Amino acid sequence: MPFATRTHHLMPEGAYEVLARANKLEAAGQEIIHLEVGQPDYPTFENVSQAGIDAIRTGKTRYTPPAGMPSLREAIAEKAGQQRGIEVHPEEVVVSPGGKPNLFFPTLALVEPGDEVIYPNPGFPTYEAMIEVAGGIPVAVPLLEENQFSFDLEAFDKLINEKTRLIILNSPSNPTGGIIPPADLEHIASQAERYDCWVMSDELYTRIVYDGLEALSIASLTGMQDRTIIVDGFSKTYSMTGWRLGFGIMPRELASRVDLLLTHSIGATAHFTQFAGLEALTGPQDMVQVMVSEYQRRRDAIVDQVNELPGFVCQKPQGAFYVFPNITDTGKGSTELANLILEKAGVALLPGNSFGEYGEGYLRLSYANSLENIEKGLERIKSVL
Ligand SMILES: Cc1ncc(COP(=O)(O)O)c(C=O)c1O
Repeated sequence: MPFATRTHHLMPEGAYEVLARANKLEAAGQEIIHLEVGQPDYPTFENVSQAGIDAIRTGKTRYTPPAGMPSLREAIAEKAGQQRGIEVHPEEVVVSPGGKPNLFFPTLALVEPGDEVIYPNPGFPTYEAMIEVAGGIPVAVPLLEENQFSFDLEAFDKLINEKTRLIILNSPSNPTGGIIPPADLEHIASQAERYDCWVMSDELYTRIVYDGLEALSIASLTGMQDRTIIVDGFSKTYSMTGWRLGFGIMPRELASRVDLLLTHSIGATAHFTQFAGLEALTGPQDMVQVMVSEYQRRRDAIVDQVNELPGFVCQKPQGAFYVFPNITDTGKGSTELANLILEKAGVALLPGNSFGEYGEGYLRLSYANSLENIEKGLERIKSVL
């Protein structure tokens, strides 16, 4: 059956693929430790769940304006603006079912066929998918392990040109956990201004940062808010992956375009989910801190133990909940090693190349699992290696 060319390049996301294979092995009786999935192991916080339940009970089950309930847009404008030190108006906020539509639709609204889009590689697989659906040309910029997995700025400077329409950034990063240093952001911002391009800043993990560090938003640099789309959401910060709630912050005219795309595609985000989001933002924040402190404890343990595995070299990530060890000294490729570990050690993790060609030679392990499971998994990997 012939399908439209714009869908030809689409590939499954590595995490879903490995999860399906792991589930199959589990169904056949093998015990699997899951270090592949990118979602918090915490349940949604009690006050947030209760707000969602109350909302359903009180009939908050209707359509809302496509870009979100005014009260939620206001709360996002206030809180997300405060966090980044910028002023945000509610009309610049677009609520969506998860962060993903706020990656996809602004890209559709901005990128013409033939436009070039710079994106991080290794990076979140949706970037390449959405660029190509829009008819754009994906231009991969490698991330440098020795530079906290920030952009290779030399490569970036060579690749940016008059045809570049959009630059995608992700800090803290999935899959590397790296934070883009402020000086690199300044450099990227000055190039964006010089070539008059938009910047999409995926900040889904912005509150999951360690050692007192901050992940600066490029939107907070002088003049940048007018050309930046901030993408953030509730999935990771509030452990709400299945509720589907995210948002974008962008200049008003672009927000209106994205509003129309939402109107004619998803219609609106679930009404009661938005009430849960309102509680998440305006209620107590102590559970976020508890969760992040626990991730930091796990990160410290996992980095030390991964570095003891023969042939593995692991940086200490500053954010998100992934480690991305270099495994080239094992003499095996990413896919071969990930398969071996799944089949022989019963540990599911992701080959780095499922995040793009420059992810070859790495593995991604998520530490959104208990320390006990992580330690057990690493013991098993050690014995297989
Ligand atoms: C970097 C990054 N951006 C965006 C998303 C999308 O998250 P959601 O659509 O659940 O908000 C994810 C989810 O894994 C991610 O890792």
